[in-house]
Amino acid sequence: MGYFGCNILVVLVLVLNESHLCNGGVTSSFVRKVDKTIDMPLDSDVFRVPPGYNAPQQVHITQGDHVGKAVIVSWVTMDEPGSSTVVYWSENCQQKNKANGKVTTYKFYNYTSGYIHHCTIENLKFNTKYYYKIGIGRVARTFWFTTPPEVGPDVPYTFGLIGDLGQSFDSNKTLTHYELNPIKGQAVLFVGDISYADKYPNHDNNRWDSWGRFAERSTAYQPWIWTAGNHEIDFAPELGETEPFKPYTHRYHVPYRASGSTSPLWYSIKRASAYIIVLSSYSACGKYTPQYKWLKKELPKVNRIETPWLFVVVHAPLYNSYNNHYMEGETMRVVYEQWFVKYKVDMVFAGHVHAYERTERISNVAYNIVNEECTPIPDQSAPIYITIGDGGNLEGLATNMTEPQPNYSAFREASYGHATIAIQNRYHAVYSWHRNHDGCAVEADRIWVNNRFWYPFDESTTAKSG
Ligand SMILES: [Fe+2]
Repeated sequence: MGYFGCNILVVLVLVLNESHLCNGGVTSSFVRKVDKTIDMPLDSDVFRVPPGYNAPQQVHITQGDHVGKAVIVSWVTMDEPGSSTVVYWSENCQQKNKANGKVTTYKFYNYTSGYIHHCTIENLKFNTKYYYKIGIGRVARTFWFTTPPEVGPDVPYTFGLIGDLGQSFDSNKTLTHYELNPIKGQAVLFVGDISYADKYPNHDNNRWDSWGRFAERSTAYQPWIWTAGNHEIDFAPELGETEPFKPYTHRYHVPYRASGSTSPLWYSIKRASAYIIVLSSYSACGKYTPQYKWLKKELPKVNRIETPWLFVVVHAPLYNSYNNHYMEGETMRVVYEQWFVKYKVDMVFAGHVHAYERTERISNVAYNIVNEECTPIPDQSAPIYITIGDGGNLEGLATNMTEPQPNYSAFREASYGHATIAIQNRYHAVYSWHRNHDGCAVEADRIWVNNRFWYPFDESTTAKSG
């Protein structure tokens, strides 16, 4: 080929490259060196057992009713059942109150759990700091939490978003980064995959216990809203374990009955100005299934005048442009996406893919097998989909992305981190992603989110990523 021909080739290559660049949003130019991620050894200080005979450990709290006036307190005692009573009092009133809980245990192959306590404290005042004490005598331990403001349309409230956390050295960095973030999360929306105990021989459930002790420094002080991931399934017929979600449902209680659900794997809560719907990627979701019927009745109940912000939390992303777990959320997308658009869900939070991604507002609901309209299109009634499965577990990062970056993908990067969504009022919220390698105040991806019900304008031009 002559000089002239070469030049044409170069121009062609440039044009083709350019057309690729035009396809999607930002694939961060940062390429992280992928080190092997390993779990912290069991004798690490983060797994320390509190001293004393039968001292309560693995303390965690979650919302205990539909509106935020109740809290479920859970903990484990190892030596004997002890007491399931919680003593609690509000910051400005020294009068002590008591609530009695229940204790449960379970076996998993050759493992027998400690005594798992769950106690629901009810009729709390909104927006109030409470102290609570569990355990008996010298080993009693005291913690505190603050109840959310009363449900209402302009109540500012900030959620942390963490997923696929595990218990590796990177998991510890993620949790620390969340704790030190100046955007103070008041509750965590956890998008699933907790301990990764199922990665160990015989699903060594001691790793459920160590995870509980590791996360206690956050989970005892602010509610974590739980979503079940695939690592919660713990289905192991080769070990004789055929009850899915056994360790998870024994250890992590959620207020599912308060929202008329028949399963702890899907439920809803209201918290401040947000309505949060938790779904299960690993339960049937098709027509006539319990989850389908519940969600169909649930979405029309959301009153955006009372709770302007509507969030869905689920483990497997409905939109994901990484090759890892590509299209695993497709079954749920086919069934539920039309409802998310119809009811103007603001954001859908998912994990599963061990990386970060934010989509544009897009939908793919026009397709009907003959019209060939099977490409996602911009849709201002559609949610923004966030993948925040970058908590840092022992499986490592997902770095393999589909190319070119599809139109629907606004920003993606394979780094560990967490996110925050800070509701300002009924119109606006600030969403940020925080990568572990940055300083705690750095917002590596940040957008103003406009509420779909009250301020349904395109916010994509406000995105500041990098
Ligand atoms: Fe997962």
